[in-house]
Amino acid sequence: AAHVTTRRLLDMKQGKEKISVLTAYDYTMARILDRAGVDVILVGDSASNVFAGHSTTLPITIEEMIYHAKAVVKGVQDESNRAMVVVDMPFMSYQISGDEALRNAGKIMKEHECDALKLEGGMIIADTVKRITDVGIPVMGHLGLMPQSIYKYGSYKVRAEEEREADQLLEDARALEESGAFAVVLEKIPSALAAEVTRSLTIPTIGIGAGVECDGQVLVINDILGLNREFHPRFVRQYADLNTVIEDAVKSYVHDVRERSFPSADESY
Ligand code: KIV
Ligand code: NA
Repeated sequence: AAHVTTRRLLDMKQGKEKISVLTAYDYTMARILDRAGVDVILVGDSASNVFAGHSTTLPITIEEMIYHAKAVVKGVQDESNRAMVVVDMPFMSYQISGDEALRNAGKIMKEHECDALKLEGGMIIADTVKRITDVGIPVMGHLGLMPQSIYKYGSYKVRAEEEREADQLLEDARALEESGAFAVVLEKIPSALAAEVTRSLTIPTIGIGAGVECDGQVLVINDILGLNREFHPRFVRQYADLNTVIEDAVKSYVHDVRERSFPSADESY
């Protein structure tokens, strides 16, 4: 199947085909996701949480994002090479100035053949988004709950429930589209607002905790696989219980080693 492009995502919105997005941080998982037919793989800075164990996305560095992105791109290339790979620009790699944002965007794009970058923010980063897209690097926006601003919000609760923040979000979404963004993630906002944003934009909206009217959906792979026992927010649908599967497998292995039933003669030389 043909590699998913920004053009294809626009066509999918126009044709009312829903866009499926999942995160991945490593080669093995990227191969499975690409084989399973997911449209877009996001190398999310959620790697900071689910891969590195930090409590927020703030600590992850550009070098670490590039390391994850390289592994994911290679996985997709070695599989069907269908999924588009989008990489999050980490905290403080694009906020200081347009020049610095452009330099860092180029650095991430040049290290491997990813397809696009994702930045958090609306009007405040509109000029930066324009500069990055002007040189030919596709940008995905991210509005609503923006985890890189978590210390400003002070909580992970649903965003834009009040009219003022909702109006601002709509303006931010339009500003991103005008600046050349090819899609925008809407995180943890009321479904009705997400539906309104989706109707007002030509570019697709990708929701996470933003209702079924978005043009696509994104979730963190660890969450849908049930890898994190403690994290069960209402926007996650858990499709497997890998935590239990892996724990049971490891217990069996430890048992077999202790009991000398592993390795058998067949498993030895
Ligand atoms: O980092 C991430 O995983 C994300 C998605 C949840 C949208 O930004
Ligand atoms: Na992110």
